[in-house]
Amino acid sequence: MVLYPMNLNQRLLPGFRLGNHFIDTPLVLAPMAGITDLPFRRVCKPFGVGLVVTEMIASRAVDMGRERTERMAELGADEHPVSIQIAGSDSGFVSEAARWAVGHGADFVDINMGCPVKKICKQIAGSAMLKDEALVARVLEAVVAAVEVPVTLKIRTGWDDQSKNVASIAHIAEESGIQMLTVHGRTRAQMFHGHANWADIGLAKDAVSIPVIGNGDIVDGASAQEMIRISNCDGVMVGRAVQGNPWVLGEVYASLMGLPQPSSPTPAERWAIVIDHLQHLAAHHGIQCASKLARKHVIWYSKGLRGSADFRAHFQVMQDWQQMLDFAEAYFLGLADEVDASGTGLSLAA
Ligand SMILES: Cc1cc2nc3c(=O)[nH]c(=O)nc-3n(C[C@H](O)[C@H](O)[C@H](O)COP(=O)(O)O)c2cc1C
Repeated sequence: MVLYPMNLNQRLLPGFRLGNHFIDTPLVLAPMAGITDLPFRRVCKPFGVGLVVTEMIASRAVDMGRERTERMAELGADEHPVSIQIAGSDSGFVSEAARWAVGHGADFVDINMGCPVKKICKQIAGSAMLKDEALVARVLEAVVAAVEVPVTLKIRTGWDDQSKNVASIAHIAEESGIQMLTVHGRTRAQMFHGHANWADIGLAKDAVSIPVIGNGDIVDGASAQEMIRISNCDGVMVGRAVQGNPWVLGEVYASLMGLPQPSSPTPAERWAIVIDHLQHLAAHHGIQCASKLARKHVIWYSKGLRGSADFRAHFQVMQDWQQMLDFAEAYFLGLADEVDASGTGLSLAA
């Protein structure tokens, strides 16, 4: 893990306009398939997130109207402004999906041209589209023409090191009417390896005048500041670091606002978030599906805490929902014994 010293010349971001909305906190929760459903977004939003994005929804006509797809596009009244992300390379299907997203209440439509997954790339969608700039322009122009709301784009920096075209794609995006661009500072070939190249995000920023959101490897307020310093981006997006740790958003928020860093959650505060998340999961997905998702999330919440390996071993084989809640409550509140002498924070496992 790279450690960044807190920058004394901390950069405060002013926010930006996106259609009828002003994004006053340019802190964006990254779309993550299978993770950033409505329950997760509800948990994260109060930590200072200015914009949330749904998981990617494939634009194949067959998917629209399916129960699972409809659930993915369900938005909370309390989470606006919110963006629905769609993926696809057929300009007709993507435009249709964009209209469908607006019909479901999306304030913005985000187009995914960053997904590295083989199945998606084989259909020449996600990051594979970056190889075909004419196709990028065609799809973006069609979607911008299809909906009244701002259309935004999320990309990687190119297909591989030899064909990096982040500045060129940024330029095409702006010319096509895209109103905000998010750049994950890795090529498709990098998948999630190595470190995101924050200078490459700066290449997009230099190429356009629309807001550019930097993404990749932000883990705390200091790394957010370092990305902003290197790339000059207008906002930051955080993904994996939030899994089991929404408090990291509070740290990044504080760094963007010039506020003191928040203290780590007490056991009671941690449990309050965990149980809130679990209840939202049950309400949104039903208990059967929620139990499966809860295993993943609760295990993330316990990561690094004392006794988490034992807890995990028992929790992940539990079937009964109430038993899972009781067991998790006993574990997380039991950590109160671990409160350090100052009364804040938890001891981490050695
Ligand atoms: C499990 C997982 C699912 C993801 N799903 C999506 C997605 O649906 N749409 C998208 O644009 N990016 C997706 N991403 C990429 C993230 O939005 C983000 O660009 C990437 O994780 C880098 O940011 P980070 O270092 O803050 O995690 C996903 C990433 C992960 C780890």
